[in-house]
Amino acid sequence: MARLLIEGGHRLCGEVEISGAKNAALPIMVAAALAEGESVLERVPPTTDTLIMARILRELGVTVAFLPEGACAIDGTRLRHHRAPYSLVRRMRASFYVAGLLLARLGRAQVPLPGGCALGSRPVDFHMRGFERLGARVTVEHGYMVARTGGRLQGRPIYVERASLGTTVNLMLAAVLAEGTTVLENAAREPEVSDLATFLNRMGAQVEGAGTDQIRITGVDRLRPARHRIIPDRVEAGTFLLAAAITQGEVVLHGVNPDHLRAPLRKLEEAGAQVTAEGPHQLRLVMEGRPQALEIETAPYPGFPTDLQQPFVSLLSLARGTSVIRETIFDRFRYVDELRRMGARIRVEGQQALVEGVERLTGAPVEATDLRGGAALILAGLAAQGVTEVQGMEHVDRGYHRLEAKLNRLGARTRRLDPDRPSPNHSPVVLLES
Ligand code: EPU
Repeated sequence: MARLLIEGGHRLCGEVEISGAKNAALPIMVAAALAEGESVLERVPPTTDTLIMARILRELGVTVAFLPEGACAIDGTRLRHHRAPYSLVRRMRASFYVAGLLLARLGRAQVPLPGGCALGSRPVDFHMRGFERLGARVTVEHGYMVARTGGRLQGRPIYVERASLGTTVNLMLAAVLAEGTTVLENAAREPEVSDLATFLNRMGAQVEGAGTDQIRITGVDRLRPARHRIIPDRVEAGTFLLAAAITQGEVVLHGVNPDHLRAPLRKLEEAGAQVTAEGPHQLRLVMEGRPQALEIETAPYPGFPTDLQQPFVSLLSLARGTSVIRETIFDRFRYVDELRRMGARIRVEGQQALVEGVERLTGAPVEATDLRGGAALILAGLAAQGVTEVQGMEHVDRGYHRLEAKLNRLGARTRRLDPDRPSPNHSPVVLLES
């Protein structure tokens, strides 16, 4: 189990390049396997989740190769197995996207139900109902979703419950090769959906309306391989902005799309940060003094992203005044107990957290139990007095590529302790403590 030691209290200053979005890369990797022939995806972040997706696709017969400079080549010519392995699928919910691929290409799919996770119960009932609407026979047997079509899927109008991102993605993957037209009403509007649509259209699909709540997909007979560059990771970008804000520092992000960050940027400004777009792909944040308290309610895009709720709470735990955070998407407050151990004053009532800002946090050993909660603890550690030790870094590695290396280049003092990967002697970090 890897741990991160953080010596808090250092202002973060400098420039950082943002990686490709993991939540766009995952569905696009699956989409690439819809075609025979080699697609090349650029800016695929080599996080644990994308590596797991590569392994699942390989198990299904798909050829996947990671190329230099973060590119990934995927060829669906040899896709032939319709059963996805439980040992890998259970590690990542987004693996369920292979169900849409398998139904579209092979007309049958056996994919383990992902089960619950640290964010609470996370069913895939909307996905399965959508496949049924497209004409598949769907049952649950021995922990697997077993789905079959007699021939091609049939395009239909489908209402997407709760504007679910995963459901929208899975139904897009299934519908692009269906017979006729599928209209997704109340579709997710996340940039990751638009990026998937852009890639699918490059492959020859007919997808219109991505980015709005109505997506129209006219099925085609086959798709061809294509080349695509994954959009920047808006959650990673938000995390670095917050890292600068919580340490009262100044950072410039390169390779971002500020348009994808409108809600969190407005909230950062409300908290007292100065945010400037310096060109179409560059953002500067300067923070002086403690943040102001905020009210935040998470919502599907373009609302405030649930993925930044936890990192924002770390910032607000140091605010002047009391903040109110309402979480409407997941059960996502488990990390709060750990923040309290660092001196934060947070009361959780149902889906709401009341965060009474304190003047300082103090370093403590804490444990990450999920990806963004882990990021929140690291941010708190950057600002806290003394040393914080974040356990459970494998959760953080699912979605951030070398987070601590990037933070250290901005002036943070962190050091990874990993029994499996001893850190090199040339680590730039001064040893924190014995
Ligand atoms: N839901 C159901 N049944 C379903 C599907 C969803 O009840 O069949 C519920 C969920 O439990 C949740 C709501 O509907 O309460 C919306 O969930 P959604 O399907 O939109 O979320 P997701 O696709 O499972 C993706 C991201 C999450 C991100 C959410 C919300 C990926 C791989 N995951 O999850 O990212 O928080 O959308 O934006 O894209 C992360 O990166 O840390 C992460 C958790």
